[in-house]
Amino acid sequence: MRNPDLDSRVRGNDRRGSYIMSTYTSPKVEVRESGIEGHGVFAKEKILKGDVVFDFSKGKGKMISGAEMDKLCAEGRDYGIQVGEDLFFAATENSEMEAGDYLNHSCDANLGIRDSLKMIAMRDIEPGEETAFDYAMSETSDYKMDCKCGKPNCRGIITGEDWKRKDLQERYNGYFSDYVAKKISNTHE
Ligand SMILES: C[S@@+](CC[C@H](N)C(=O)[O-])C[C@H]1O[C@@H](n2cnc3c(N)ncnc32)[C@H](O)[C@@H]1O
Ligand SMILES: [Zn+2]
Repeated sequence: MRNPDLDSRVRGNDRRGSYIMSTYTSPKVEVRESGIEGHGVFAKEKILKGDVVFDFSKGKGKMISGAEMDKLCAEGRDYGIQVGEDLFFAATENSEMEAGDYLNHSCDANLGIRDSLKMIAMRDIEPGEETAFDYAMSETSDYKMDCKCGKPNCRGIITGEDWKRKDLQERYNGYFSDYVAKKISNTHE
């Protein structure tokens, strides 16, 4: 008899153990050139609030340290998401790149994080809109980026300190990575 659970785990083309693993990517999105920077991820059809758009937890990337992430960024490979104080999940080589690696930052995010590696829609997203999260939801490292999101509330410069801002903590309540949410609740104790 076919095992549907096994079937769902063998899609993709990267073997880990006896399974083939890859990031769950909603069929409602695709990678296109972005007005923000390089490429981004866009809605092909309407995405509803609460939809899971990406789940990197079975993705092709690797867990790496902050030093390894810094090295990749210096090589122009900023395709990682911070999941712990010194822990990043990242595409470390071309064969590990997936659509979700092209998610840009927006200061008016329409995606938020569930757990550490799932991206969910914070609101309904219309076809043609770029999907983007706010890097403040996951980043606490020594990090700085000039933002080109173009939103009226653009912060201009994005840093690994932004998670400390009260306005962002309120705006993105429930959408921070578990790791950052824990840091926020520790500062309130
Ligand atoms: C995960 S990649 C996103 C995909 C990237 N646009 C590409 O085509 O390779 C992260 C990098 O994209 C760029 N980026 C993402 N969001 C940005 C933003 N709001 N403003 C300027 N650059 C951005 C920065 O260079 C950042 O290091
Ligand atoms: Zn911005």
